[in-house]
Parts: sequence; C-alpha cells; structure tokens
Amino acid sequence: VTAEKGGFEHFMLKEIHEQPKAYRDTMRGRIDESGKKVVLPELKLTKEQIKGISKIQIIACGTAYHAGLVGRQAIESLVRIPVETDVASEYRYRSPIVTPDTLVIVVSQSGETADTLAALREAQSHGAHVLAITNVVGSSIARDADDVIATLAGPEIAVASTKAYTSQLIAFYLLSLYLAEVRGTQTQDEVARIIAAMQALPEQLENMLAKPDAIKAYAEQISKHEHLFFIGRGLDYAVVQEGSLKLKEISYIHSEAYAAGELKHGTLALIEEGIPVIALATQDAVLEKTVSNIKEVSARGADIMAITHEEHVVSLLKSVNQAFAIPKTLPLLTPALSVVPLQLLSYYASLARGNDVDKPRNLAKSVTVE
Ligand code: G6P
Repeated sequence: VTAEKGGFEHFMLKEIHEQPKAYRDTMRGRIDESGKKVVLPELKLTKEQIKGISKIQIIACGTAYHAGLVGRQAIESLVRIPVETDVASEYRYRSPIVTPDTLVIVVSQSGETADTLAALREAQSHGAHVLAITNVVGSSIARDADDVIATLAGPEIAVASTKAYTSQLIAFYLLSLYLAEVRGTQTQDEVARIIAAMQALPEQLENMLAKPDAIKAYAEQISKHEHLFFIGRGLDYAVVQEGSLKLKEISYIHSEAYAAGELKHGTLALIEEGIPVIALATQDAVLEKTVSNIKEVSARGADIMAITHEEHVVSLLKSVNQAFAIPKTLPLLTPALSVVPLQLLSYYASLARGNDVDKPRNLAKSVTVE
C-alpha cells in the first residue's frame, strides 16, 4: 500500500473507488442549472449538422468498444438515429459506408490506440465528422478528431480499465440527451427525469462500494475454476461482455459472455455440473425471458449467481444459487451500476489467484501498433 495508490492495495481498486467522483466530474458543467438540459459547449458540431445526421458509427477497441455497445443503445433509444458499432481493427476492412452526414464516434481512454486512430482517419477521408470520447485531451486521437468530449476520470494507471469505461458511459448518456434535445426526440420532462437519475448515480455507487463482501466471497469461489459463463439480454448483454473481458484480462480465467437467448443455439452444450454462470438480470423488460434462460442452465447443473435488483432476489433464488442486489436506477442507466460488481469480481478473483492485478501478463495499457 503506497500513498500514490491512495491507501488501496492496487491502482485498480483505487480506480474502482474513484468512479463516483469520475461520474460527478464528467457531468459537471454539462447539465444546466434547471436540471432539464444537457449543455456541451465544447462541441463544434452545429445544430444544423446534428439535424442532418443520417447514421452514427461508434468505433473503439477493448473496453472502450464495450462502452460503445451501451452508447449505441442510449443513442438509438433516445435519439432514434441508426447506430453501428465496430471494433476499430475491423472497421476499415469491411468497406464501411461512410458519408458526410455520418457522425463517427471514436472512444478511447488513452487517445493513442493505433487501430482507433487509423479508423478515425479512414472515416475522415470519407468526409465524416469524427467526435472523440477520450480521457486524454492532449492525445493523438483528441488532436485529430473534429470534436472531443473529454471524460474526466483522471489518470487511469491499472491496465484493466474501470473508471474510464464508466465515464465513457456517462459521456454517451450526456451526448444522447443533447442530440435528443436538438432533434426533438424526447420531451423536456423525460430528459429531466433521466438527468435526475444520472445525478443520483454517484451516491448509489458509493453505497454499493461500501459492501464488497458478498462479491469478494464469490470471487474466491470462482477463482478455483478455469471456465465460466456470463449471460444477459439487452444492456445486460453489453455489460457482461465487459465483465467477461475484465475477468479474462486479470484473472486469466476463461469466460464467455453470451446473449442469454442465444445460449441454447450451441453453447448450452458446454454447460455441465458445477460450472459457474453469472447471470446479469437487471432489465425488467426482458427479465422473464432471462429467467427462462437461467432455468435452462440451472437444469444442466450450473452454479448460478444472479445480479439483479432487490425486488427480484427472492423469486430468482428459486433458480439460482446466489443473488446479489444492485441499486435501482432507470434501465438505460443501469450499466453504470451493474458493471461495478463485475469489476470487483475480476479484481478479487485475480487477487485470489495471486496475479499481478495492475499489470496482467501480455497486455499493455495502450496499444500503439496495429
Ligand atoms: C488496450 C488495453 C485495454 C483497452 C484498449 C483500448 O488493449 O489493454 O484495456 O480497453 O487498449 O484502449 P483505449 O485507450 O483506446 O481505450
């Protein structure tokens, strides 16, 4: 434990705990005093340009790509503009359809990822307006992009990204609300309701971070396994993809994130007695369907832990071995809370295995080669 780690054993744990502050800092100055409107004075993108956007492409790598998956759902549901998501290393090679009325959003914590930078240049060469969501304002991506929304997570040292990811989510929520206002796709009351829920997130997160014991105990349990599964639907699916990546990066446990409804189309063959399955079940609109997928794996003997809301714990415990409750917010904002137990799970699993949490083998914080 050193002073630079703020009393925490690892940078990763420190950064997990910095998330409430990162949320506040990323929102500060971007919500007007009435609480009914998002303001993004830094944007060069004009209202006329916003009205003319025909399509949005979100491009990133790794964890930032997973933030983009949530960003896509936020934009599509609030703004009703079609959104495509690409991992940056693939983008150029599918000959993407990019026109001057395409808004391209690149997401990068470091702003130095070579694949993302190359995708940015490709998009610009087709005349697209490129907006970067980045944590480093002086970075190459920030310099080359036409617009920048800075996440204010502060420096992220641990290789496994935590607070940068969640701050990217906040940036996407803010951007979606701003675009919705300009395009008139949401009422002022609806926007105010979402903003109020966003402003409650830091405190909800603080409460959750104060009680890590159940997750820690579960992490010790899974640390003895070599394979496990994550399942979820909708936004829960987006979040488990990040949870699975985090676990692989630092615990070296092999895991797969599956769309809960897709499991039965093949992967169910891998479910056997005692295999851990982590089911994220926070999206009420698809809860019943997720429960039926949980029953499919439970019938094959999986050892299931559900992450859900308090009100579903009792009924879920009929089909799962353990359940962990997270605070309730709007479904769209839930990723900003639900990813945190998954971050802690990887952290404690890595710790239990005696790994170098902050510097996992074979990985670099920022990858500047294609
Ligand atoms: C590296 C890191 C990942 C990160 C990815 C994208 O592979 O190990 O944690 O998500 O790059 O990084 P960026 O800085 O562009 O967000």
